[in-house]
Amino acid sequence: MKILVVGSGGREHAIAWRLTRDEERHDIYCAPGNAGTSSIAVNVDISATNVEGIVAWAEKEKPDLVVVGPEAPLVAGLVDALEKAGIKAFGPVAAGARMEGSKRFAKEVMQAAGVPTGMAATFTDAEKAKAALPSFGLPVVIKADGLAAGKGVVVAETAKDAEDAIDDMLVGNRFGAAGAEVLIEEFLHGEECSILAVVDGEKAVLLPSSQDHKRIGDGDTGPNTGGMGAYSPAPVVTDDKLPLIREKIIMPVVRELKRRGITYRGILYAGLMVNDENSNPRGPVAKSGSSVNVVEFNARFGDPETEAVLPRLGGSFATMLLHAAEGRLEESDVVVKDDCCATIIASSAGYPGSYEKGKKISGLEEEVERTVVFHCGTAFSGADTITSGGRVLSITGSGKTLREAVDAAYGRISGISFEGMFFRKDIAHRAFDRGSVGRA
Ligand code: AMP
Ligand code: GLY
Repeated sequence: MKILVVGSGGREHAIAWRLTRDEERHDIYCAPGNAGTSSIAVNVDISATNVEGIVAWAEKEKPDLVVVGPEAPLVAGLVDALEKAGIKAFGPVAAGARMEGSKRFAKEVMQAAGVPTGMAATFTDAEKAKAALPSFGLPVVIKADGLAAGKGVVVAETAKDAEDAIDDMLVGNRFGAAGAEVLIEEFLHGEECSILAVVDGEKAVLLPSSQDHKRIGDGDTGPNTGGMGAYSPAPVVTDDKLPLIREKIIMPVVRELKRRGITYRGILYAGLMVNDENSNPRGPVAKSGSSVNVVEFNARFGDPETEAVLPRLGGSFATMLLHAAEGRLEESDVVVKDDCCATIIASSAGYPGSYEKGKKISGLEEEVERTVVFHCGTAFSGADTITSGGRVLSITGSGKTLREAVDAAYGRISGISFEGMFFRKDIAHRAFDRGSVGRA
């Protein structure tokens, strides 16, 4: 197949890489891609958000499939435009991408579909929002409605912090239009995990569970980031939970969207909070009464979850994506290998704050068994590979147990360096804290 992957991060490198593992050979293109994708695909110099440019390229080059990585082009209607031009695409249309693009819309859909999630209310008026705070207790979560590059969520421990967050968004206009409406949400206790469901408009198949590490520092301390590592499977998602997640969360959303005239195709990513005897930590029961609640939905593959999940997939990845795009996904399209994966993000000093770019990366040439290095923010400078982002590399290890996978990834990262390189030393600590080192 001829396939265009849209995006330029570790997720897109992992998607392109996994396509190269299929038995059938594909011609892979990335728009715009990065230094890593250039060794397995043809990079096309069009930015991921240039909808017109991508459609024009696709009309000329006629790929069999376009796989859209990031949320921005989905929300901007890239898939709608491609479909209009008769080109098959994996990813939801703009109306479906609102599950990620508008937290208020996602909440409405969940409430209409009876999906367990935190109790919430939306406000555009700061005084009314503040007046509602006491009914939520503490901590309380304040969220900007729209896309805010992962920064639009404040978990407030005190009423003053909650009020400041409300003022920041509604009065101070911190996130512009994205923060012109805020959600106040019940704080959910427990342990988070990510479930990526492949959806074809009517049916859904779950990919293996994973867990992301959102904070910059070891022990989950410091500011939130785009994700500093991930591993799969996540032991908190015990086997008995998967049917529940499918039937009580994913399928009701797919059906509710369909009822609203939206055929959702692509990845529906559920960020979940699990709070039961298996979760680490656990806390008071949510108002929904459910032990699994939705924290957020995303309309795409997670990053860095993708780098830990895709290496675990067997079978033909291209066929799975195409079948979903064509509305004829089958259970047998998703084949999961019986191993574990962990990925560690190597970031630039200063990330998630400001950081320098252009640092030469060394140690990339070496091939090490059971490891693969995905590029997140890299570029070429002559013959050198240099840093060009906050998250620079995603180093994945695999093994029969989670311990083996983590050890493989840390072994590989020890041979890589660039000035200011930083990475977390405790990937998968929640799994190890509970003594589980094998499959979930
Ligand atoms: P979101 O962008 O909605 O995923 O929120 C970012 C992070 O904030 C999540 O990954 C959680 O760690 C935290 N968070 C968001 N909503 C809640 C909630 N209702 N209860 C507890 N933590 C939350
Ligand atoms: N890893 C979190 C996300 O992709 O949104």
